[in-house]
Amino acid sequence: MSDSATLTVDGKNYDLPIVTGSENERALDIGKLRSQSGLITLDPGYGNTGSCQSDITFIDGDKGILRYRGIPLEAFADHPNFVEVAWLLIFGHLPNRTEYEFFSRELTENANIDEDMKHHFAGFPRSAPPMAILSAMISTLSCFHPQLFDLETDDQLEKAAARLISKIRTLAAYTYRRSRGLPYIYPDPKLPYVSNFLHMMFSEVYSPYVPEPEVRAALNLVLILHADHEQNCSTSTVRMVGSSRANLFASCAAGVSALWGPLHGGANVKVIEMLESIHKGKMSAQEYINAAKDKSSDVRLMGFGHRIYKNFDPRATMLRDVSEKLFAKLGTSDPLLEIAQNLADIALKDEYFLERKLYPNVDFYSGIILRAIGIPANMFTVLFAIGRLPGWIAHWHEQNSDPNMRIARPRQVYTGNGLSHYVPMEDRM
Ligand code: CMC
Repeated sequence: MSDSATLTVDGKNYDLPIVTGSENERALDIGKLRSQSGLITLDPGYGNTGSCQSDITFIDGDKGILRYRGIPLEAFADHPNFVEVAWLLIFGHLPNRTEYEFFSRELTENANIDEDMKHHFAGFPRSAPPMAILSAMISTLSCFHPQLFDLETDDQLEKAAARLISKIRTLAAYTYRRSRGLPYIYPDPKLPYVSNFLHMMFSEVYSPYVPEPEVRAALNLVLILHADHEQNCSTSTVRMVGSSRANLFASCAAGVSALWGPLHGGANVKVIEMLESIHKGKMSAQEYINAAKDKSSDVRLMGFGHRIYKNFDPRATMLRDVSEKLFAKLGTSDPLLEIAQNLADIALKDEYFLERKLYPNVDFYSGIILRAIGIPANMFTVLFAIGRLPGWIAHWHEQNSDPNMRIARPRQVYTGNGLSHYVPMEDRM
């Protein structure tokens, strides 16, 4: 295979090196194209643009493969442990016992937020969107940890990562408690990561909430399945912000904002709204599918389609299995799961979805699991953020450790007015 390509423009040839990744994906390196030819590339939505080289996550969207640091996602299904996966993503290998215990201890010791931060919650309306609060509070965290702005050693990175990963869970739980007018429940140092989160969400004063093991396992797996997805919108945002040498807290706060949108992490809320509207009889499943296919409407089948997966999304398949197992263990059911399966069955036989290779994505089943655990819909995207945080940290760190890192600064093709003149107010139409 050749290691360069030739681009011919106006009779001139330009050699473009070909970069090959460890799984044989190939990319044209256009780093010198503009200086040599005056040309830039144009790729709205960056569908064909590799913004970096990365060792963290491998996806083959055609084959439905997703691996963290080389390990297939499916390997985590039988012993789901979010803390272990967070470490793996950030530090590049599975933690040995000493590393795992040290990191777990750091998570435990940093679970509380500064008491002064609690006052900030009172400044938000009770009805404030949880993602707005989360982004603001992660930014606020930076005010309490200025010593962690410059992370030069692995030790400093670990401290910052542990603080963020631990405290995001406390911030999320307090956001929920505040929205309900409930007293804040302090983290319990005896509890592991996921149980502690559920404790802060659902315990009452003097009445601890003890989750079923199946619930703990399901939530661990949900978080793991969201933990990284290479250069998605929020991760690219974290990298973009971090490329200006903004600190980890500021960069992750920006990631939360990017994740909030309904085409990204916010889709899990929209899926449940869609399923509920079908359940309430506002539309049948077939009518919803028809609306999603109708180009004159802006309806989309939420939880379907993906920029990268043109085959099944392995996360959706795993979540469907988890949801079925969880309901079987809990001895409960959710009519929305049946509606979701019916919608998927119709869509997966429909020419429109088949032609465009639109399959259920991670958001299609995650909300159903979170509902079964008792998490309200407006917190779903917050749960996605808790899961995605290790990925953001891993990418921020990878980028910041790269000696060749440059500030991210795309170009554009200008299409506006030619030279125009300033018109004084009194002469304007
Ligand atoms: N329902 C109906 N039509 C769709 C859908 C959908 N969910 N998704 C894509 N299409 C159509 C789209 O209208 C277009 O049709 P045409 O070629 O006739 O113009 C074609 O499929 C290609 O779509 P696209 O918008 O160019 O694809 P994209 O790669 O830019 O967008 C997406 C990917 C995920 C934003 C999109 O599929 C979508 O909006 N899905 C629904 C929202 C959703 O579930 N988002 C969660 C994504 S997974 C979690 C995450 O990573 O955040």
